[in-house]
Amino acid sequence: MPMSMKIANTTIAMLVLASVAAFGGGCRGDRSSSRPRQFIPDMDDSPKFKPQTKTPFFADGRAMRSPVQGTVAFGVLPDPAAKGREHYLKEDDAFFRGKGGDGAFLTTIPAGVTLDQAALERGQERFNVYCASCHGYDGLGKGTVGKQWSYGLPNFLDPKYWDLKVDAEKSRDGYIFHVIRNGVAAPDGSLLMPAYGYSVRPEDAWKIVAYIRSIQEASRGSLQDLPEAERQRLQQNRPKTPGAAPAAGGEK
Ligand code: HEC
Repeated sequence: MPMSMKIANTTIAMLVLASVAAFGGGCRGDRSSSRPRQFIPDMDDSPKFKPQTKTPFFADGRAMRSPVQGTVAFGVLPDPAAKGREHYLKEDDAFFRGKGGDGAFLTTIPAGVTLDQAALERGQERFNVYCASCHGYDGLGKGTVGKQWSYGLPNFLDPKYWDLKVDAEKSRDGYIFHVIRNGVAAPDGSLLMPAYGYSVRPEDAWKIVAYIRSIQEASRGSLQDLPEAERQRLQQNRPKTPGAAPAAGGEK
């Protein structure tokens, strides 16, 4: 075999080896600390800046940009065109933080929250989605996850959660609103109960508070307190086991 052909063969073999290494070296499923090679990235990742991060792109190194000079922040606007944007500054401490002017938690739900049948139903629906897994549909603290907790979860029927004379803070509407939005913090700052402020909007959190009040009220009342039609509906849809979800049709 001529010398030049031998060299050509070796080169081809090396090229084949190199391409096998390139393609086979970082296959999906292999463990590697380097980024995977993406030949057709499609929309696997979307490059973006996370809040409060650095970037060398801007001279000041901040990924978050300051508002344009001369920008004026605004709060509640009477202009109907600003509907949905009235609360940019979240200035309303009562509505957004459950606190009064004195900094104490409110004893009542702020007047701006409409409390009617629809609000209670929304509160029930949100409660069942976000709270019942731990606290149970009945608020006794024995939800599917709650039962597995390393310690007993609180029972919402405990008077400390509704009677101002028993607990001057935890009984307040504003406190329960605060717990929904910010969770329950341990002294070291870690969360004993997760915060749901990221997914439960303030108006929904107030509706959950209203619904918890209705559970508590129901536990203190009797069937006779209800109008006849409601009494019948309740008796038909009564869950067989305490803590179970209401029978289908029980919720409107
Ligand atoms: C992942 C489980 C979990 C979910 C979901 C959950 N909680 Fe809790 N919640 C806890 C735990 C745990 C505690 C007890 C924290 C402690 O040790 O004081 C607690 C405590 C509470 C307390 C009493 C706080 C106090 O200071 O005594 C209230 C009120 C409460 N939760 C309301 C809610 C509401 C309303 C929701 C739904 C938005 C909710 N929780 C969702 C786990 C949960």
